[in-house]
Amino acid sequence: MIKIGKLEIKGICALAPMAGVADRSFRELCAGYGASYCVGEMASAKGLILGDRKSEELLEVGAAERPAAVQLFGCEPEFMARAVEKALKYSPDAIDINMGCPTPKITNNGSGSALMKKPELCGEIVRAVVAEAGDTPVTVKIRKGWDEDSVNCVEVAKICEEAGASMITVHARTRSQMYAPPADWSIIKAVKDAVGIPVIGNGDVFTAHDAMCMLEETGCDMVMVGRGALGNPWIFRQINSLYEHSRPLPEPGLFEKMSVMHKHILAMVEHKGEYIGMREARKHAAWYLKGFRGASRLRNECAKLTVVSDVDELIKKVIEANSSQTDTSN
Ligand SMILES: Cc1cc2nc3c(=O)[nH]c(=O)nc-3n(C[C@H](O)[C@H](O)[C@H](O)COP(=O)(O)O)c2cc1C
Repeated sequence: MIKIGKLEIKGICALAPMAGVADRSFRELCAGYGASYCVGEMASAKGLILGDRKSEELLEVGAAERPAAVQLFGCEPEFMARAVEKALKYSPDAIDINMGCPTPKITNNGSGSALMKKPELCGEIVRAVVAEAGDTPVTVKIRKGWDEDSVNCVEVAKICEEAGASMITVHARTRSQMYAPPADWSIIKAVKDAVGIPVIGNGDVFTAHDAMCMLEETGCDMVMVGRGALGNPWIFRQINSLYEHSRPLPEPGLFEKMSVMHKHILAMVEHKGEYIGMREARKHAAWYLKGFRGASRLRNECAKLTVVSDVDELIKKVIEANSSQTDTSN
């Protein structure tokens, strides 16, 4: 168990923050499958201060996803500190600072992974956020470095710890790598060996077996799963089973997958309304179909999902296309 101030995390797998994907519906679903900690989509500190409603919506924490952090991005200590007040209104279990986003829209302003080019500024930001956060733990999410010529995650991690960060997530790739394999897990171990606060390892965990290897190879306190959970929220159940009972669990069958997809999309519609919920559900539906017969043809159907009843039609078509290989046991 990880205990940092009032934050207690019982378990070894976390859901990664994923803007535009890991919204409250998805986070609650993953928590239900055993994700022991969730981090919300990044919210702009400046946007929050200027009263942007969409930025503020990203701070909502659902009861079923706790313990959960909200995540802030920005590069001015003063704005980051002022955004904390907004964040605290939603009683997050932790406030995470984004120092890893590789998107030019974010890095061109000096935020996200661009912060790693200025280690001193990383420290100033952490100090400013900690000063406003009271007893809510402040954590950071970093990358290996900006590029292969400037690998500095150990230095940045130590500076953040010194400035008051309570936990560090290391995405084991440089910014130049974006999301390209391979993730360099040795760097997670290097950070773990260098700091005294808990370290979450992140990058390329796609199976329960990957999670065990990362824990073993790096000594990290927890693994964080991003893309491996898309259309695959039960990965957390699989990781926990392998970790706690050394028992690998099989893939769920078609009916379970379709029923989880249905539940997930209904939750999105409940939180965001049918118009936005159904549009945002399209990419999730395509991920759930991965590996099934006819998936590429049926992906076009996913792209047309508009009203809730379209989901029932889609599921019927998936079952028809796979009827000869349907496992009726679940
Ligand atoms: C669609 C998408 C959105 C992301 N959004 C965020 C974000 O808001 N904040 C953040 O710190 N990382 C974000 N990330 C990075 C992930 O949290 C994670 O570090 C990365 O995907 C590597 O983990 P993985 O190999 O398990 O996917 C995002 C990744 C993806 C694919």
